[in-house]
Amino acid sequence: MTTNIIGKPLARVDGRAKVTGSAQYAADFNQPGQAHAVIVGATIGLGRVSGIDAEEVLGMPGVIAVLTHLNAPRLAYLPHKAVIDPAVGERLHVLQDDLVHFQGQPVAVVIADTLDHADHGAARLNVRYIAEEPIVEPVGPGATTVIPAAGIQPDAWIRADTSRGDADVAVARAPVRIDAAYGIARENHNPMEPHATVAAWDGDRLTLWSKSQYVVNEQAEIAAVFGIPADDVQVICPFIGGAFGTSLRTWPHVTLAAMASREVARPVKLVLTRKQMFSLTGHRPRTHQRIVLGSTADGRLTGLVHEGMGETSRHEEFMEALTAASGLMYACPNLRTRYRLVQLDTGTPNHMRGPGEASGIFALECAMDELSYELGIDPIELRRLNEPVVDESSGKPFSSRSLMECYATAAERFGWSRRNPAPRSMRDGRLLIGMGTASASYPAYHAPASARVRLQADGTAEVEAAASDMGPGTYTSMTQVAAETLGLPPSQVRFRLGRSDYPPTPSHGGSWTMASVGSAIRAACIAVQQEAARRAIADRRSAFFDATPDALHWHEGRLRRHGDSSYGESYQDIVVRAGEAIEADASAQRDPEVAGRYSMHAFGAVFAEVAVDPDVGTIRVRRAVGAYGAGRIINPRLAASQCTGGMVGGIGMALMERTLLDKRDGRPVNAHMAEYLVPVNLDIGALEALFVEEHDPHVNPLGVKGLGEIALVGMAPAIANAVFHATGKRVRDLPIRIEDVL
Ligand code: MOS
Repeated sequence: MTTNIIGKPLARVDGRAKVTGSAQYAADFNQPGQAHAVIVGATIGLGRVSGIDAEEVLGMPGVIAVLTHLNAPRLAYLPHKAVIDPAVGERLHVLQDDLVHFQGQPVAVVIADTLDHADHGAARLNVRYIAEEPIVEPVGPGATTVIPAAGIQPDAWIRADTSRGDADVAVARAPVRIDAAYGIARENHNPMEPHATVAAWDGDRLTLWSKSQYVVNEQAEIAAVFGIPADDVQVICPFIGGAFGTSLRTWPHVTLAAMASREVARPVKLVLTRKQMFSLTGHRPRTHQRIVLGSTADGRLTGLVHEGMGETSRHEEFMEALTAASGLMYACPNLRTRYRLVQLDTGTPNHMRGPGEASGIFALECAMDELSYELGIDPIELRRLNEPVVDESSGKPFSSRSLMECYATAAERFGWSRRNPAPRSMRDGRLLIGMGTASASYPAYHAPASARVRLQADGTAEVEAAASDMGPGTYTSMTQVAAETLGLPPSQVRFRLGRSDYPPTPSHGGSWTMASVGSAIRAACIAVQQEAARRAIADRRSAFFDATPDALHWHEGRLRRHGDSSYGESYQDIVVRAGEAIEADASAQRDPEVAGRYSMHAFGAVFAEVAVDPDVGTIRVRRAVGAYGAGRIINPRLAASQCTGGMVGGIGMALMERTLLDKRDGRPVNAHMAEYLVPVNLDIGALEALFVEEHDPHVNPLGVKGLGEIALVGMAPAIANAVFHATGKRVRDLPIRIEDVL
């Protein structure tokens, strides 16, 4: 493949639409005659609804209906398939009974002519409860631990227990040992755009303009909930204002919007409040982990134990790859991992950027840093000493692995050689300076996807796939793949996404969009070229009439005869003669034979510098450098933007983000942006993402591994390790707070 367009830092093709406000997000799709719905959430953490006084609210100005379990229609709630929601258990059935499973669970929906009237009605609705005491703390009495069921995940990646050799004996006998416990707080995704759905029925057909990273899944899920054919549900979501995983699955508010619309027989808009997003749309589960490392005196790992526990709800098991990376990051003959879930009376967690790896690798990489001090070996050298030859968790070779190149590139750029390794040894005036580093890794996933290309009479190509763009720049990167494959300038290609009636793609998550959808678009472009060539060959008016297909090829958007560059026919020539657009669909998936042969992961090395005020304990990340080996980079500008954005998320994870629940009733007490802290501009220093050259022919024809998740993965441990270097205090619980370093 020539590379005229792939690899170029093209500006976002949708940038103008976004900054001028013409890009439409879910809540922007106002419908004629639409009503507004506001959810009333339970104010207890567990128990039942004993009564609802709807009469007063029904008499208030503008109120059209109050839906509760007493009058809501019974819904089908057909069993969901794996593709619908990757959590084991049964999803919440909204307004179907009087049970309250968690604080904030919808117990009523007030529908009115304006948002103001609906909100007023919801505020005045008197709901009576019989409350029980919920369990919302993962440690302590009442918390029930379960062994996670077999994960419905690619490659059965998530396993409760794994082992090789005898790790417990190995660490017991090791001359040098680290045994430490790490905790990470519950975090909530806080994208700028709240969840929102506008629902409208036309007879039996439902249209949802809805925030979703997975429109074909939302279509399937809502069809299953209402017991209607999926073809009768259309989901539309052209733009997403950030998501980080929160809209990967379809949450119950979408059901409520559709239900409300059907009941009041008009379109209904439902937008979650920021506060509701702390209860109803998932969170990164709180985790507790223990890492035991055994090492020889010269720094070779002999044993690794990784035990982890994550929280889930009572009604569903949410699993993530908490311990998986520990099996492949380093060479170590003896390994034991263990993963358990604790069932709590809260909503179900969900994937949040770098799910599993971000938490698990935090523990592993902090422990590796602790080991480096114990041994007196430079942290990078310790990683080099334990660089594996193959993925020891599967025995397969890596399709490519550039971890040490990442370390070399990022260390050079960061100026690691200027670091004095002694804790509390570096200062800038009064401030303590610390430098820390950590490895990052994330699987190079790939899932079957499809796409359609339509060549138009005006010489342009329309490309469609049901994909999403939550911010990484899918519109732009896919335009580049199509333009490159077709040999057209990007301005001649229009890529559309975010409709459930477009060719299906997997979820927009797991860093597999570029690999999966990109490969499908490439395949569809090749298919439409073949179709256009067939049309030319069959057309007496074409110079290629009756040619053998093998004698022809496409070059820079023109069909040519091999060895003859003097004449070519453009897509436009062929389409105009055909008198109709020429279209082709294609699907792509990873070659299962190749997939079975290699272990495929992206790797990275992250460096962070912190400045800690020794008197007041404030911690600032002054700068960070990450280098990533993520296969081919389709657009370095977008990729760097992705990665620095992920680093910002890592700063939040390390120093700020923490959702606190009231033990008495499960209420998130800081469910707003004033007290749930996320990094703002002043918290961000100089962030830089670099990409090491990597040509991986095995992952997919494009050679891309995916980016996005990995960008958050190594950041929190790099910061925690820098905080130790600055202060001499090893803080093992995130977020690291002022009082931890004083
Ligand atoms: Mo990403 S957590 O899969 O949106």
